[in-house]
Amino acid sequence: MTIIADQTVLLTGASRGIGVYIARALAKEKATIVGVSRSQDGLDQVSAEVKALGGHWLGIKYDLSQLEELPDLVEKINQLAGPIGILINNAGIEIYKKFQDYSTAELHSILTINLLSAMELSRLVLPTMLNQRKGHIVNIASLAGKKGNPYNSVYSASKAGLLMWTDALRQELADTNVEISAICPGYVSGQGMIADTGVPIPKLAGTSKPDDVAKAVIQAIEKNQAEVIVNQDPITANISKLLIALWQISPQFGDTVYHWMGVSKLNKLRIKNQKRVALKLSM
Ligand SMILES: NC(=O)c1ccc[n+]([C@@H]2O[C@H](COP(=O)([O-])OP(=O)(O)OC[C@H]3O[C@@H](n4cnc5c(N)ncnc54)[C@H](OP(=O)(O)O)[C@@H]3O)[C@@H](O)[C@H]2O)c1
Repeated sequence: MTIIADQTVLLTGASRGIGVYIARALAKEKATIVGVSRSQDGLDQVSAEVKALGGHWLGIKYDLSQLEELPDLVEKINQLAGPIGILINNAGIEIYKKFQDYSTAELHSILTINLLSAMELSRLVLPTMLNQRKGHIVNIASLAGKKGNPYNSVYSASKAGLLMWTDALRQELADTNVEISAICPGYVSGQGMIADTGVPIPKLAGTSKPDDVAKAVIQAIEKNQAEVIVNQDPITANISKLLIALWQISPQFGDTVYHWMGVSKLNKLRIKNQKRVALKLSM
């Protein structure tokens, strides 16, 4: 069990979407939050909110695709805010395409932000956590890592990788008192990468709120939970778990369920509208 109060928490993807809700939840727990993302404006806005809620804040503008410079980032945080006690790998990107249409740069980009930056940051903070015999890493994965998401296949691969790596590392860390959790949200409404697209979420898939994800993060840290599925309510989350188990036995049954829920149809729509979203976010 990790107590969040007074810990230095490195939170990636803190400038918008779910990251803002996680930052607020951490502020209420009186943590020192080091928020990292590319948008200085976004970080400044979250800074004001965190301080108003009683948390301490340090915002660092940083592009996580710069993997080679992550040791410098961690060193800078150690100097300015003290050793990182909790790492929350939340930053993520997705690009909707038919698989053969991805460029090599896009493959690199998705895998680097969603998977490699999480691995590299964890690799860098672990020696101190292990020395201190305390610490917690939270990886924000996705239900898309549990069942392949058509036309978002590279994102799915990155999240499946994140989940399997978390699973393996948790076993390596047994008996060290350093903990690791994976959070798997389904569709999140209101704010975040899916809400930003404005496409209708399939009703049968269920949705959760960004606040639910933030609460799941706090609970996973406090209770040392290995993997948490976040969906509409506990019943929907349990149905998701049951379906995931069945899809292990029959992936084709899973394909049928996804088709029936309208996931392929939705994602084809998202190929069309992502240019509009990219434009909106860059303004
Ligand atoms: N929203 C959902 O429905 C949903 C469902 C399941 C899982 N998730 C996962 O939840 C996490 C948060 O998603 P979200 O919905 O909040 O997404 P979002 O609204 O698009 O926010 C993504 C965050 O990641 C940061 N980021 C992206 N590229 C970056 C880079 N190169 N360097 C540094 N920061 C970068 C962004 O900041 P800048 O742009 O300022 O850099 C932003 O703060 C992701 O890992 C996502 O896969 C989301």
